[in-house]
Amino acid sequence: MKKKIVVTGGTGYIGSHTSVELIEEGYDVVIIDNLYNSEAVVVDGIEKITGVRPFLEVFDLCDRNRTDLFFKNNKDVAAIIHFAAFKAVGESVSKPLEYYRNNLDSLMNLLVAMQTNGISNMVFSSSCTVYGQPAKLPVTEDAPFQTALSPYGNTKQIGEEIIRDTTFSTEKIKAISLRYFNPIGAHPSALIGELPRGVPENLVPYITQTAIGLRDELRVFGTDYDTPDGSCIRDYLHVSDLAKAHVAAVKRLIDKKNRKNYEVFNLGTGKGVSVLEAIHSFEKVSGVKLKYKIKGRRQGDIVKIWADPSLANRELGWETVYSLDDCMKSAWEWEKQIRKHN
Ligand code: UD1
Repeated sequence: MKKKIVVTGGTGYIGSHTSVELIEEGYDVVIIDNLYNSEAVVVDGIEKITGVRPFLEVFDLCDRNRTDLFFKNNKDVAAIIHFAAFKAVGESVSKPLEYYRNNLDSLMNLLVAMQTNGISNMVFSSSCTVYGQPAKLPVTEDAPFQTALSPYGNTKQIGEEIIRDTTFSTEKIKAISLRYFNPIGAHPSALIGELPRGVPENLVPYITQTAIGLRDELRVFGTDYDTPDGSCIRDYLHVSDLAKAHVAAVKRLIDKKNRKNYEVFNLGTGKGVSVLEAIHSFEKVSGVKLKYKIKGRRQGDIVKIWADPSLANRELGWETVYSLDDCMKSAWEWEKQIRKHN
C-alpha cells in the first residue's frame, strides 16, 4: 500500500516541486490548497511530469470544521507537509493580523486535527529568516532566534514554537521544521516553477522578468555592504533539491529514525553568493545582458547569511546537487516557457 502524504499548499512553488518528488518516490499525494496564491492547473504540470495526478482538495485550513472533517475521513495519512501560508514580507508589514490569523490558525487547526485523528507526523516549512543576521557564519541550527523583522518572519518563529510545544506535550506527534535558505529555479522539465503574482519581491523572478522584457531594469539593493563585492550574500538552492529534503524528512519520521520528537534542519548549499554573482551567473547561462542599476539598500535586508547544512547532510542523507548556474538556467527556461503562452 502506498503511504498517503498530505501536502498543504501543494499547488504553490515549493509544494508543487515536493509533490513531484514524493510521487516519484512512490507516495500517494493529496494536496490541500485554497488556491489563494496559486492555480489549479499546476496539478496538470505535476501529472505531466510524474504520470500521476495528485488529488486536489480545495479548502481553507483556517476553517476548523472543514479541516477536522477532512482528517476524520483520512485517518490513514502517514504525514503532513505543511507549506500553506502567506509569504510576502512587505505585505505582512501592512497586514499583520491577516498574516498572524492565516499562518497560525491553519497550523493550529492542523495540529488539533492530528491529535484528534491519530496522525503522527508533520514536516513544517520554516525559513532562515528566524536567525535574523547571525553573529556566526555559516549559521547552525542552534543559533538563537532574533527579533523578527516582519510579521511574516514572526509567524515562522511562532509556528516553530507552537509545533515544538505540541510535540513536547504529546509523545504522539512528531515534527521536523525545515529552515530554507533561498529557494530558486524550476523543475528541469519547465512544466512547473514559481508563479509570482504582480511585481516580484524576490531576486531571481525579478531577474528573469527583466531579462524577458517584463520589467525595465533590475534594482540592486546596495553595493556598500561589508561583503567582498559590496552586495548582500545569500545561500541560493534549487527548489528540486529543496523538495527532495522533504521526502527525506517524511521518510525519517515514518521510519521512526528521528532522534527527538521535534527536530530542526537547515536546508542550503553551504555557500554564500552575492547579488552581483547571481546576476553574472544568470547572464552567463542565458546569454542575456541584464539591465540593472545599483540602488540604495532595501530596508530590513540581512547583510549576509549562508547555511551550515551538515546536520541535514548527515541525518537526512541529503545534499544539494544543482549548481548556481543550473539554478539560473532552469529559472530562465521556466520564464521563457510561461511567457510563450501569454
Ligand atoms: C526574503 C525574505 C525571507 C523569505 C524569502 C523568501 C526579507 C528580509 N526576507 O529573503 O524572509 O523567506 O524572501 O524567498 O525580505 N534583491 C535585489 N533586487 C531585487 C530583489 C532582491 O537586489 O529586486 C536582493 C536583496 O537585497 C537580497 C537578495 O537580492 O540581498 C535576495 O533577496 P530576496 O530574493 O528578496 O530574498 P531575501 O531577502 O533573502
